[in-house]
Amino acid sequence: MTAEKPPKKRVAILISGRGSNMQALIEAARAADYPAEIVLVASNRPKAAGLTWAAANGVPTLALDHRNHASRADFEVALQSALDEANVELIALAGFMRLMTPEFVQRWRDRMINIHPSLLPSFKGLETHERVLAAGVRITGCTVHFVRPEMDEGPIIAQAAVPVVSTDTPETLAARVLAAEHRIYPSALALVASGRAVCVGEKIVISEEVKERAPLFSPSL
Ligand code: GRF
Repeated sequence: MTAEKPPKKRVAILISGRGSNMQALIEAARAADYPAEIVLVASNRPKAAGLTWAAANGVPTLALDHRNHASRADFEVALQSALDEANVELIALAGFMRLMTPEFVQRWRDRMINIHPSLLPSFKGLETHERVLAAGVRITGCTVHFVRPEMDEGPIIAQAAVPVVSTDTPETLAARVLAAEHRIYPSALALVASGRAVCVGEKIVISEEVKERAPLFSPSL
């Protein structure tokens, strides 16, 4: 008797711009054995380049301009109804530049993940690479985490370390970190979608089997 494969988790990606992480997730999800499928890409900015790429690659897209909504909560009502319509089970934020209400975050607790271009809990917030260079740290990186109401907080699913070199500018450092983001985001989403990364308290527990297949800490030094 062969074990039946569990159905793929239905994932929406929320973006605001370029969408290179979105692209990495969509490409990874094309693999037959990937545990998630990308059923929707939504952007609060109608002109986001990522929307064009997603549509050209056969992924349903939605432009939901936040400026057409009277409040953050109104915007989220529209977003939630699109998520319901597409039967979305998990949300992956990928450069989504809009804060969410605590109610929305609570509704998606442990079902919404984000990527941030630093080794959290260091360097939360914007202009990360500028601040990393100003601080003079020699190692930075990126983090995939579950979303909590406080910005860039939440249980850590995956991290990669990236060296800072003395000739770095914010742009060269961002490019090196971005390459690491594209590596870890697909494996982190796979861990969550397959049910192998589980929140226990406010920490993530990963099943042994997955540790072997997808190392969580992947230093590129
Ligand atoms: C990435 O650096 C991500 O970590 C941050 O915003 C940037 C988005 O880039 N949250 P992209 O749109 O995925 O190319």
